[in-house]
Amino acid sequence: MSAVSSTELLKNAVHQDSLMSRQGLLQRLFSVWFNGFVYNQIWEDPKVDLEALELTSESRMLTISSGGCNILNYLKVQPAHIVAVDLNQYHMYLTRLKLAALKHLPDHNSFFDFFGYADKPENVDNYYRYIQAHLDQDTRNFWEGGFLKPKRINYFRKNIYEYARFGYFVRFLHGIARLAKANQKELLKAKTLEEQDAIFEREIAPFFDHWIVKWVGNLSFSVFSLGIPPQQYDYMKEESGGDLVNLYRARAKRLFCQFPIQDNYFAWQALGLRYDFENRQAVPDYLKVENYDVLKNNLNRVETHITSLIDFLKAQPANSLDRFVLLDSQDWMPPAVMTALWQEIARVGKPNTRIIFRTASPASPIETALPPALREKFVYEQERSERLLQQDRSAIYGGFHIYHKPA
Ligand SMILES: C[S@@+](CC[C@H](N)C(=O)[O-])C[C@H]1O[C@@H](n2cnc3c(N)ncnc32)[C@H](O)[C@@H]1O
Repeated sequence: MSAVSSTELLKNAVHQDSLMSRQGLLQRLFSVWFNGFVYNQIWEDPKVDLEALELTSESRMLTISSGGCNILNYLKVQPAHIVAVDLNQYHMYLTRLKLAALKHLPDHNSFFDFFGYADKPENVDNYYRYIQAHLDQDTRNFWEGGFLKPKRINYFRKNIYEYARFGYFVRFLHGIARLAKANQKELLKAKTLEEQDAIFEREIAPFFDHWIVKWVGNLSFSVFSLGIPPQQYDYMKEESGGDLVNLYRARAKRLFCQFPIQDNYFAWQALGLRYDFENRQAVPDYLKVENYDVLKNNLNRVETHITSLIDFLKAQPANSLDRFVLLDSQDWMPPAVMTALWQEIARVGKPNTRIIFRTASPASPIETALPPALREKFVYEQERSERLLQQDRSAIYGGFHIYHKPA
């Protein structure tokens, strides 16, 4: 829908300070680094989102796409319409591949081979046989191209979850874990939360004491591959009281010990860069066989655009959407941009609109960023937000926030 390039969209989203300042320079480095294929799956728990969103068969959603998993996880409950936008074109290429694979692969097994196992030679054959002809040219060019490498579609014969900048970064962390003699994969075998806790203390906690982790963990560009821009890094640094490694240790403990490992697919990805395809509990709902028909039959309810939230909203009529999923994009925005976005949400949002987002720190930036007249149009469901944050299996955020626009 937008002719603006991803590079331009990213610059608009991230460059907030002058190039001559340290922060401005880091923002430019981030936008160059982030202008690539970063996430191979989304890191936000759809179970929590679905509880907060209260979707009905009438709901019309706008969500940032990222890796595209949650569009399908939401589609399971059959809202009327889902619009997915992302200013990162590469994430949209993954999303469009996911949607086309679901629509055109012959059965659940071949779909699960593609995104569940994600490492089978036949995935590449199936791409050419069933999917390729249904993709737009840019999406094809991405998957069939590759710089000094074989075609990117081969990621699906070698485990896509080890690729993309996020996958490379986790591999780098696993490399340090080996140096620290930590065997993080032991935790995947735990049978109880107590065992998870004991294995964490024995195998993973020492990793955070390794000098490389202490050194790298406090560098702002080290977390670019997690999609954390300089401004979000600053919020986290402030919250950690200056020692980010301690904050990472606490969040890792939540990720690995607060929820049963048997169905926490986020923890499986962090520890093993794969889903639990043997037991198929620690896999996203969109890959479960019981959801396959409903997803496949409702794909016509989804549309995708490479654009920013605000550019998309500006082109929409008033009162036309009623659910908004902003991921952690509020951490990327200065108050003036947040205000412009929420003005659009107030205009486009129908009565009873619900809005969710995550933040690096516990506090909601909306409470201080919006002018009072705009802020009064929304109600903050703070107690429920705090409760649901505790249930978020992705466990990496400091805050989850729910707002609604009253009828
Ligand atoms: C905000 S990031 C953060 C990570 C997120 N928790 C995840 O798991 O993907 C996710 C995606 O949001 C996109 N994004 C950020 N700000 C945006 C905006 N204003 N409009 C559209 N997409 C945006 C980025 O391009 C990226 O693909």
